[in-house]
Amino acid sequence: LSSQSAEKRRSPPRRNFGIAFDIDGVIFRSESPIGGSPQALKRLYDEDSGALRIPYVFLTNGGGFRESIRALELSTLLGINVSPLQVLQGHTPFKNLVQRLENELVVAVGKGEPAAVMSEYGFKNVVSIDEYASCFPGIDPLAPYKSWEVKQAPKHDGVSEARTSTNNCSQRVQAVFVVSDSIDWSRDIQVLCDILRTGGLPGREIGHQPQLYFAHDDLAYQAAFPSERFGLGAFRIALESIFNRIHHDPLSYTCYGKPNPFVFKNAEAVLKQLVSSHPDSGLAPDNASTAVHNFERLYMVGDNPDVDIKGARQAGYPWFSILTRTGVFKGTGNHDKFPADLVVETVEEAVDYIIRKEC
Ligand code: G3P
Ligand code: MG
Repeated sequence: LSSQSAEKRRSPPRRNFGIAFDIDGVIFRSESPIGGSPQALKRLYDEDSGALRIPYVFLTNGGGFRESIRALELSTLLGINVSPLQVLQGHTPFKNLVQRLENELVVAVGKGEPAAVMSEYGFKNVVSIDEYASCFPGIDPLAPYKSWEVKQAPKHDGVSEARTSTNNCSQRVQAVFVVSDSIDWSRDIQVLCDILRTGGLPGREIGHQPQLYFAHDDLAYQAAFPSERFGLGAFRIALESIFNRIHHDPLSYTCYGKPNPFVFKNAEAVLKQLVSSHPDSGLAPDNASTAVHNFERLYMVGDNPDVDIKGARQAGYPWFSILTRTGVFKGTGNHDKFPADLVVETVEEAVDYIIRKEC
């Protein structure tokens, strides 16, 4: 019996499934792992070799750092080996817009290193809102009352936020990307209204609104505090409400992130890629070519019914939604409006269920 169970541990499961894990409220609250997440994720790797045995990705609306940096951070905090391919953030699909805007001046907003993120995606003329605002003396009349200093995001791989920008603030801004949560709403709303109502030239006449993209539209998310915190969606509402009071045309914008169906389609494509890029690891299903195989089941493990569960439900087959009680959802039964296929206490319970079912 013991040799059989050892064998079972060693031989990789050859079933056709994958998993997408939400991060905030499922894996972490702020930077603290929750719900047994380190143990749960370790079960997706071979105990002896450490090779990935079950294909999974992180599917988060959060962000602010490059996928390579986030992968390193997740690896350190969880004690596993996460590859950048496995990190899908709200802003990750911004890279698909590079062809249209590669050389145009674009402003990147949010915590972390938003300009470095956009540079990594191939945008050649990107400036962070911190640096952009500093080109216009007096643009934020409250600046002298702000006791904090605008500090550069930490350097990763020797690349700092400042080095990514051209500092060419006299050009017309063609697009604004809200990559992650604004850390100074009053300044950012002021500066963004200036950019957006003047056609990208603050202080000038009214002009055609530049494009505006948000990494996601989460009204709230679960961080360290017991009740939810305002997210990018709350910032979008504030910006839109003010812009629509000062401008004749309503604010035009596009929100990426969950629950948009394309996010789930992309996660499926990345999971397939993950399987194809590990042909010898046992990730490939038994009798299908990795190049053409389709998943029979994909699990979305999330804490937010309006975002994670709604998204998985809309995406349809082969998605199966699992709602945890470690984040935004705190109910006792299932969610009324967007009921999940399964409700569990923690991510550890979710992984346990999946492994029992599939392996
Ligand atoms: O700002 C991040 C938050 O809105 C959602 O993150 O990981 O729960 O999708 P996550
Ligand atoms: Mg979440």
